[in-house]
Order: sequence, then structure tokens, then C-alpha cells
Amino acid sequence: MTDRYAVIGNPIAHSKSPQIHAAFARQTRQDIDYARLLAAPGGFRGAVEDFRATGGRGANVTVPFKLEAFDLADEVSQRAKDAQAANFLNFDSGRIRADNTDGAGLIRDITGNLGLSMAGWRVLLMGAGGAARGVLLALLAQQPAILTVANRTVAKALQLAEAFRYHPSAGSSVLSGLRYDELAGHHFDLVINATSSSLHGEPPPLPAGVFAEGSLAYDMMYGKGLTPFLALAQSQGATRLADGLGMLVEQAAESFFLWRGVRPETRPVIELLRNQ
Ligand code: ATR
Repeated sequence: MTDRYAVIGNPIAHSKSPQIHAAFARQTRQDIDYARLLAAPGGFRGAVEDFRATGGRGANVTVPFKLEAFDLADEVSQRAKDAQAANFLNFDSGRIRADNTDGAGLIRDITGNLGLSMAGWRVLLMGAGGAARGVLLALLAQQPAILTVANRTVAKALQLAEAFRYHPSAGSSVLSGLRYDELAGHHFDLVINATSSSLHGEPPPLPAGVFAEGSLAYDMMYGKGLTPFLALAQSQGATRLADGLGMLVEQAAESFFLWRGVRPETRPVIELLRNQ
């Protein structure tokens, strides 16, 4: 019998997850069906319960339900606990088990697909909401020399830095929180946009000069052409630009692996989506 999975969010119509998982399933000869489920605000728990009751084996969770997914679970992985958010649910054991595959997805994209090592790098993470929190520890585990969190509401950046400063993953990395204007005069090898500012068509208010020579600008969002942040990065001299399509496919691959025990090849799927 075909095993059923879904991605739950709001909005959900434009989600590429069904296409990604269908490609993984073809490639690994797994018999799965993967659908989109729209949940109304306040309707997330009901959507999960309905899907489970009708034979759903697991689900991915996207905006705005990642915190609710974490709260709803019977068991949560350490990664989900650290992020306090979940994008992955597994219903197999008769319980709801939650995980967070976003951080692993970002790291696999940067280290695997882009072939870069972050050890010793100066890294700037912009944003202090759920998206930033979801990747912060995975970044620290790569042993950057410096990890600076910048946020419009600086209190949230400071809180995030404080929360993880003494975490075992922090190692010898120097973790701090700053306002955007305080970044003037600092230089970074990697600048990651984990804000939702692209949704308003604008880049985060980054002062000029933060991109070090040879630096990588990474937007966790993606879209047609350059995102507002990547356009800004290019104009400020960032050498390499990457959007979040690779991360999207990599977090999906990690989910697929957790459900099915098989790790799909991501490169052909990234190319497939890139060429559409
Ligand atoms: P997500 O789950 O996508 O992280 P979120 O928790 O609402 O969503 O967080 C959105 C993040 O984008 C926050 O860091 C927010 O900054 P504030 O905490 O100051 O609100 C950031 N953000 C949104 N719009 C922005 C903009 N136009 N410029 C800079 N940062 C922005």
C-alpha cells in the first residue's frame, strides 16, 4: 500500500515539497504519496489529527505552524528542542515524534553542495525569529570563529545569543547579538538572511562594507532571480550568492531519510527545480 505524507502550512499552494518528495520517491523506488494540506489559523492540530486518522505516516510543517508542531508532539528530538520548533513529524510509533531538519539542510547545502567549510569563519546571521533559531546551533557546530546575530529588534538577537552562549555546540565560537547599525566596520565571510524581510520586498538594513573579500551571501528564502538581499549583497561586493532552494531540498532529503531510511541524491532534484 502507498504510504501517505503531507506538508501542512498556510499558505501552502506554492510549496515545492510534493514535487521534491515525488522526485526522491522515483529515484529511490519508494512507494509514497506526498500531498499539500492547507490548515486554517487555529486549525493545525485538527489537520494533523485528521491526517493521522486517515492513515498519514508523517508530515512536514511550514509557516506558520512550526512552533505548534513542536508543542503538539509527544516526543521531540534534541534538534527540535534547541530550535523550539519542528518542521518534521513522524506518526509511525503510534505517538507523534517531532524533529527539525532545517539546520541540517542549511549545513548540507553550504558544506556539501557549495563545498565550503565554515570552520574559522566570521558568520553573520540576520534575524532572530523561528528561522534563525532553527539553524543557529547547526551553524555553531561548524566551529565558526565568530557568529554574530543581528536583528531589527535587538533584544531578540541578544536573547538568542545569550540562550546559546554556553551550549556545548558553541565550542570556542564567539557568539554575540548586535543591532544592524552596530555592524558597521565588521567583516564577515558568510552572511545569512534568516529574516522574512523579502516578503516585504526589501533587504535587511545592512550597513555597507560587511562583506569580506571572497564572502558568501546566503538567503534562506528563494524566488525568481535574485532576492532583495542577494541583490544588495551583489551590489556590496559579495563574491558568491546562494538562495534557499538548496536548503529546501536538503531539509526535505533529511526528512525523507528519517521516514524511509534511505538518503536520496539531492543534486538532480535541485537542478530540476532550478531549471523550471
Ligand atoms: P520566521 O519564522 O520566518 O523567522 P518570525 O519569527 O516572525 O518569522 O521572524 C521574522 C524575522 O524577520 C525577525 O527577526 C524580524 O525582525 P524583528 O524581530 O525585528 O521583527 C525579521 N524581519 C522581518 N521583516 C524585516 C525587515 N523588513 N527588516 C529586517 N528584519 C525583518
